[in-house]
Amino acid sequence: MRKKIVAGNWKMNTLPAEGVELAKGVVAMRGEVCDCVNFIVCPPFTHLAQVAEALKGSNVELGAQNCAAEAKGAYTGEVAASMIAALGCKYVILGHSERRQYYGETAQTLNKKMEQVYANGLTPIYCVGENLDEREAGNHFAVCKQQIEEVVFNLTEEQFKNLVIAYEPVWAIGTGKTATAEQAQEIHAYIREVLASKFGAAAEECPILYGGSCKPSNAAEIFAKEDVDGGLIGGAALKAEDFIGIGKGFMA
Ligand code: 13P
Repeated sequence: MRKKIVAGNWKMNTLPAEGVELAKGVVAMRGEVCDCVNFIVCPPFTHLAQVAEALKGSNVELGAQNCAAEAKGAYTGEVAASMIAALGCKYVILGHSERRQYYGETAQTLNKKMEQVYANGLTPIYCVGENLDEREAGNHFAVCKQQIEEVVFNLTEEQFKNLVIAYEPVWAIGTGKTATAEQAQEIHAYIREVLASKFGAAAEECPILYGGSCKPSNAAEIFAKEDVDGGLIGGAALKAEDFIGIGKGFMA
């Protein structure tokens, strides 16, 4: 049985006090969804410590949205994976399309970040996904394959066992336009095939999350698909009720 995961990417939203409130709300409602679903919240760096405190004793886990490509040293403004781990984070989102697009994150950088994440005992949530032009040109399979080959294929078999993939079509992020459940299943199955071509049977165990305008009203249909193991949630993760509501999609 693959892990079921609902992860909230808060992006650059919430002030510390708001983040703590949100985390407390998630903890308070967590019991409405079976323990078989893993909930993860990924706040901004600035309040990771406070949110960690708010999550203490609950089974809601903590992740960061990014980390530095280097271990430590003279890298002004960067946050090392070791620092994130020290705050109680278990996960780090890597390769989100917003980072690729706005901050020029390349495969080369992502390979270094991956190394840091594993060196510090964290689990990467590695994002892949095509933009609208690529989808319309029918290149979405090739784009996802390349994003996986150039980073995930460099992992060891041991590291691969501790990896989460998120498929996030750029055209569905924050647009209110969701991939259909069929579109999600089609590409998730393909991604698993690509993973299997390198890692064999272990690909069966790798959680692949869907991200892009996921909400309580569409989660059940998408999560019902065989190769969809949960969601990476943006906007709807900013309201505890919606975030937990998405988790309920597994129980429908
Ligand atoms: P939305 O859920 O706001 O579309 O964002 C998805 C996303 O980018 C999560 O990482």
